[in-house]
Amino acid sequence: MSGWIIGVGVGPGDPELLTLKGLRIIRQADVLAFPAPLEGPSFARSIVASHLDDTRIELPIRMPMQADRFPVQAVYDRAVTEIGAHLEAGRGVAVLCQGDPFLYGSFLYLFARLSADWPVEVVPGVSSLTACAAAAGSALAARNDVLSVMPAPLADGDLEARLSACDSAALVKVGRHFSRVRSLLLRLGLGDCARLVVHAGLPDERVLPLDGVDPGEVPYFSTILLHKRGRAWL
Ligand SMILES: C[S@@+](CC[C@H](N)C(=O)[O-])C[C@H]1O[C@@H](n2cnc3c(N)ncnc32)[C@H](O)[C@@H]1O
Repeated sequence: MSGWIIGVGVGPGDPELLTLKGLRIIRQADVLAFPAPLEGPSFARSIVASHLDDTRIELPIRMPMQADRFPVQAVYDRAVTEIGAHLEAGRGVAVLCQGDPFLYGSFLYLFARLSADWPVEVVPGVSSLTACAAAAGSALAARNDVLSVMPAPLADGDLEARLSACDSAALVKVGRHFSRVRSLLLRLGLGDCARLVVHAGLPDERVLPLDGVDPGEVPYFSTILLHKRGRAWL
């Protein structure tokens, strides 16, 4: 019998934002794979932890959270070998992915490697973008607005060009780039219509105006939302 593999979006962090379909797949899986730091617990696994018992094989895919620390590609190659062995043995594998798998998800690296040999399904998850908008009580886009999603590590010139061409924006992967990005937004006169959303959907969720933020205290799971009209629905 042949195994199966499904990437499951587990949402932004609130366990109640896991979809019913995602939960069903997780319960049916023989093997649960998930990204994890080199040491310590996996955020993606923690989101679904209350639904887990010890009947599944767990496969943490451990990697440094700073991508440049060592060849992460080798980590994915090894994970594919391990997952492939489970599939050959006829097991069902669910790969957990924080948020949605196809929105900057680490699952993409497994998908790229496995889909040549196996049919890989994806169960979408609630993305952090919509969770951040809900936390901020502010629309991402309305009417004919153009919403741009941009990674904060992009160079200032790139960000500036993209910001000038949109009505609203979500800047992801802010973390250690916060100080530089805030300076850019202030220079472009966009500081007042931007807010930092930290840990949307988690108990320590915060929505902050940029000027009150200590750059040393911005965690990786932070996103800047801005809308040039302010409240998009007015
Ligand atoms: C590698 S991307 C993964 C995105 C994820 N696949 C999704 O669909 O939301 C990680 C970035 O998403 C944003 N993010 C993810 N979860 C978040 C949360 N709960 N609150 C705020 N931002 C979050 C942050 O900008 C973070 O740096």
